[in-house]
Amino acid sequence: MDLDAFAWLLTDAGQEVLARAVTLGGEDPLKAQSALRREFADVPAPYVAVAMSQAGLRRRATAKFGALASSMYFTPDGLEQATRLAVAEHRAARLVAFGAGTAIDLGCGIGGDLIAMARAGITAAGVDLDPERVAVARANLDALGLPVAVSVADATELDHTAFAVAFSDPARRTNNRSRGRLLDTDGWTPPWSFVLTLLARDACVKVAPGIAHEIIPEGVEAEFVSDHGEVKEAALWSGRLATVRRRATVIGEGGLATLTDEDDPGAEVRPIGEYLYEPDGAVIRAGLVTAVAAGVGGGLLDEQIAYVTGDQSFRTPFARGYRVLEELPYRERALRAALRERGIGRLTIKKRGVAIVPEELRRRLALEGPNEATIVLTRVADEGTCLLVQPF
Ligand SMILES: C[S@@+](CC[C@H](N)C(=O)[O-])C[C@H]1O[C@@H](n2cnc3c(N)ncnc32)[C@H](O)[C@@H]1O
Repeated sequence: MDLDAFAWLLTDAGQEVLARAVTLGGEDPLKAQSALRREFADVPAPYVAVAMSQAGLRRRATAKFGALASSMYFTPDGLEQATRLAVAEHRAARLVAFGAGTAIDLGCGIGGDLIAMARAGITAAGVDLDPERVAVARANLDALGLPVAVSVADATELDHTAFAVAFSDPARRTNNRSRGRLLDTDGWTPPWSFVLTLLARDACVKVAPGIAHEIIPEGVEAEFVSDHGEVKEAALWSGRLATVRRRATVIGEGGLATLTDEDDPGAEVRPIGEYLYEPDGAVIRAGLVTAVAAGVGGGLLDEQIAYVTGDQSFRTPFARGYRVLEELPYRERALRAALRERGIGRLTIKKRGVAIVPEELRRRLALEGPNEATIVLTRVADEGTCLLVQPF
């Protein structure tokens, strides 16, 4: 993005064009752009283009930032990398509960985390290497009336000791899976070596939820966070901010719930009961499936597989619950016959621990019938198993 054009966008003239671009938003983008160019013929074309692109980014950003998006600014990558508001707000609330009056965001991007910290009442400051992101973060904080200092600086060369807490959300290469399950932390900016120095003080570092547990330093808490069923991040909490070793935080319609390794007495493998539970991804990543099993008075279906089974129905934010109706044949031909017999035409296929592609299986089953059903395909003691279940 052209920084001059962005600076113009923040002027009264720019705001007028942006407001119009937003109202034209629902229309075909090419038509909207030419309408805007006709209406504002005296405005240079690249400026009109910036207004158009901001209007589009605001629409996309609603999923992450809700109503705030309509007064914010973005770059495509900055929006992609930004922490969603619900998750950033949870982090900020934890900082407030800890008593952090001040915090510095070392690599603040367009300001996703800074906004939540400042709204929570923390005196925050941010730096980023990228002048474009700094300009956008500044505009966001101004637009939201939040007094936060943001500047261009290299986080790795900064003395951050004056702040009660240091926060960083390093940019990661998207293709960062190598050496099997281990994450290649080499490509991070700021780098993993810098993250390790932060983790020696009161700090919080946002990392990919796929982070290998083995590389997390001793004494650091790993909090895996999901929002409406999707795992969004792991946050590493260090120094006095670390309260447990592993935590799963689940954000959903009903608010926020959290489960830790201290809530985990362990659980045994047991036979299939009347109920099956599918733990939330954050619980699985935090290695707390056994805590869910204990919470519903049940056990594991299999040592290696993240399904829980029990004899009682519990509503828990940490897992989706199903009543087990019956066991069906696992082999495809017999399964097709069983589903046809039951008039099942629409089928939801859940699977774990088996190499099945649900869409392909559904196509091959070529089902017909008025009924709808859910099946779970999994392995129990190395045996393929199919359960007909009903969500509750
Ligand atoms: C994943 S983004 C941060 C997103 C931010 N948490 C948000 O919610 O909007 C990482 C940012 O770190 C910045 N960055 C990378 N290396 C840096 C460094 N050495 N010093 C300062 N900023 C850096 C990048 O420019 C990028 O904007």
